[in-house]
Amino acid sequence: MPVPGPGYSITVRVEAPSSASAAGDLTSAVGRVGGVITAFDVVESHPDRVVVDITCNAVSANHARDITDALEALPGVAVRKVSDRTFLMHLGGKIEVHAKVALRNRDDLSRAYTPGVARICQAIAENPDDARRLTIKRNTVAVVTDGSAVLGLGNLGPAAALPVMEGKAALFKKFAGVDAWPVCLDTQDTEEIIRTVELIAPVYGGINLEDIAAPRCFEIEARLREKLDIPVFHDDQHGTAICVVAALRNALRVVGKSLADCRIVVCGVGAAGSAIIRLLLQRGPGDVLAVDVDGIVHPDRGDTDPNLRWVAENTNSRRVSGSLHDALVGADVVIGVSAPNLFGAEQVATMAVDPVVFALANPDPEIDPLEAQKHAAVVATGRSDYPNQINNVLAFPGVFRGLLDAQARTITDAMLLAAADAIADVVDGDQLNASFIVPSVFDTAVASAVAEAVRRAAGTSHSG
Ligand SMILES: NC(=O)c1ccc[n+]([C@@H]2O[C@H](COP(=O)([O-])OP(=O)(O)OC[C@H]3O[C@@H](n4cnc5c(N)ncnc54)[C@H](O)[C@@H]3O)[C@@H](O)[C@H]2O)c1
Repeated sequence: MPVPGPGYSITVRVEAPSSASAAGDLTSAVGRVGGVITAFDVVESHPDRVVVDITCNAVSANHARDITDALEALPGVAVRKVSDRTFLMHLGGKIEVHAKVALRNRDDLSRAYTPGVARICQAIAENPDDARRLTIKRNTVAVVTDGSAVLGLGNLGPAAALPVMEGKAALFKKFAGVDAWPVCLDTQDTEEIIRTVELIAPVYGGINLEDIAAPRCFEIEARLREKLDIPVFHDDQHGTAICVVAALRNALRVVGKSLADCRIVVCGVGAAGSAIIRLLLQRGPGDVLAVDVDGIVHPDRGDTDPNLRWVAENTNSRRVSGSLHDALVGADVVIGVSAPNLFGAEQVATMAVDPVVFALANPDPEIDPLEAQKHAAVVATGRSDYPNQINNVLAFPGVFRGLLDAQARTITDAMLLAAADAIADVVDGDQLNASFIVPSVFDTAVASAVAEAVRRAAGTSHSG
């Protein structure tokens, strides 16, 4: 069940008659319709009336309207204005460019720009690798999307994807000091996307692909990795895979099982599920069953998509077929990256003893986490309002920090696994429990630990 959250936060400016009970009447009205007040500020106070700003969290836009109506229904109360705090935060965009050098006088100008800059250009022309030393390439990542799979909202196009990409850039900066810039492309043609990214690559030390729909995302990433001399990382694939592998390592510590003995069901074989399967297989799980909208993936299903064919050949060692519910019987772990409400507590009850349930479909998971908890030993979701939030913010800032510091030209599975272990290790043995298998995204130790692990892996794989 959704709970009021800051995603639907409003500030309602109301005028109310001055009385000893005014504050109580207003806050009670909000509470009665389920709003959660986070701030109450008196803006004006007159002998006969007060003006206050009531800030509160709602469940949805409709719920926000119910809260406003409840306030307006109070005797003598008038609503002057309602501000949606989320829209306010996006006014004019969320990131900007700052100059790192002072431009105070002719001397500064002559060195930062012409004529001095000419010598820097010549140095780079003579030795192109100097671009990594003498330009923003050293610390800059392109966040590239075609807007075809924006969050869980679908194909909204490049302009509507921009608020997400801006947010991503802000997170890169906040958590790892990486200068990321949104590049929203007005094309969904694979060849055009590849060519465009190739053309803009000289500016960047890495490419973060984002919200590009499967299966196109697989070819775009693979081809760009071949063409470019900078790392290319599709966060919806590998960021998720890193976090899931990290969370699974700690979940299995909680239940005292070893991955080599576990039967794992991965429900969803799109961008996230495929990458999770590929990374998990590096760690030698007992068995993996992949399930998609057509049921358990197996070689005789006749899939023609190369990704599904690879998954069919490399999972399902017992060659079983059937539905998701069939796959869950006897499984130790289910990882859902698919669609809402696909199974219930009764299916979790058919899993092995102490099952682990990761239900990551956003915003509504494969199973209501409270239902899953009836039989599961560990439950994780992608949501911030439940324990164990599996959130890619744990991975991508530190991954790119490490890649940029190492001046890496490629990204390898060894780096992804090192990042996963670093995230898992941030949770100390004495902190670890069924409701705390991954660190908080605000734990400042995470990005630096991930960066260090990636730097070390880059060094040992000679990719720098
Ligand atoms: N950190 C996180 O929490 C996190 C990270 C990545 C993705 N996700 C979520 O995972 C979901 C999938 O993301 P994606 O980018 O891989 O999407 P995608 O569209 O690439 O893949 C979706 C997959 O789900 C399968 N699927 C759809 N309906 C199904 C059903 N009824 N039964 C079984 N399988 C079904 C599809 O066949 C496909 O394989 C989304 O809800 C996304 O928000 C969460």
